[in-house]
Amino acid sequence: MKIIHSINQMASVSKRLRADGQAIGFVPTMGALHEGHLSLMRKARKENDVVVVSIFVNPIQFGPQEDYRRYPRNLRQDARLCSKEGVGIIFYPQAKDIYPQGYKTYVDVEDLSKVLCGKFRPGHFSGVATVVTKLFNIVNPDIAYFGQKDAQQAIIIQRMAKDLNMPIKIKVMPTVREKDGLALSSRNAYLSKSERKDAAVLYQALNLARDLIKQGNKNSFSIIRKMKQLINKKKSAKIQYISILDLKDLKTLVRIKGKVLVVLAVWLGKTRLIDNLIVNY
Ligand code: PAJ
Repeated sequence: MKIIHSINQMASVSKRLRADGQAIGFVPTMGALHEGHLSLMRKARKENDVVVVSIFVNPIQFGPQEDYRRYPRNLRQDARLCSKEGVGIIFYPQAKDIYPQGYKTYVDVEDLSKVLCGKFRPGHFSGVATVVTKLFNIVNPDIAYFGQKDAQQAIIIQRMAKDLNMPIKIKVMPTVREKDGLALSSRNAYLSKSERKDAAVLYQALNLARDLIKQGNKNSFSIIRKMKQLINKKKSAKIQYISILDLKDLKTLVRIKGKVLVVLAVWLGKTRLIDNLIVNY
């Protein structure tokens, strides 16, 4: 396994691989790797000749009050995990090379970036779309893998790739969870013992929504009210948003019909967690 820091070197290695007819699978990450990331690598390994994993804590997708500086970084452990999964290349660029002085260009996916997390994290999805575009241009993969855990991000990336005619297939893989249902996230490491216990309520609330929908409840407001009641029982939990949406355009649904996305963002103490479930009725 190679660790490449230089953008030019990454681009030329990719070019050579493609010229040799090797299919490149790409998994963009911010490191602090866990089973969720590893599941993407495994799928990429199965479907491609070479797997490239990028590890880059992208400064422009963090707000000024957010956790950019304290975001967990551990290249040595991440490299060990990647190596075990048969990753061929870790791309580990530096922020000063990705955003050199005078940097001016941003990718904005309209509307989809404004709702849900976008409402509370202005500029976040432009930061994500911009860095993913740059990484796609540098790595030039055949297939790129994303997690359903970040549903809005996955929808935005799919839209962007289509709108900008990017010659890359985007695949979205299921959310990997702990035994009690908590979705794996690098940010779970911030939780105290009691917050970690309370955090199981996110998945319980999503399951409650699924059960109510399957029982024939079509009223989003009444479902969301019941989810709120359940979450508010936990001392450390504070709801940021809960929403039931159309899966394609992320428009809020008053009456539930067909395939819907139930999404939520909840603070556990000082840690903000997100999760979601697709419910097909
Ligand atoms: P990061 O949070 O490191 O996540 C990298 C990829 O892993 C994303 O596609 C995310 O959806 C996926 N992932 C995270 N937790 C998961 C879980 N429990 N199950 C399945 N997949 C999971 O998302 C980012 O980084 C960044 O925004 C990035 C796309 C790299 C751009 O900077």
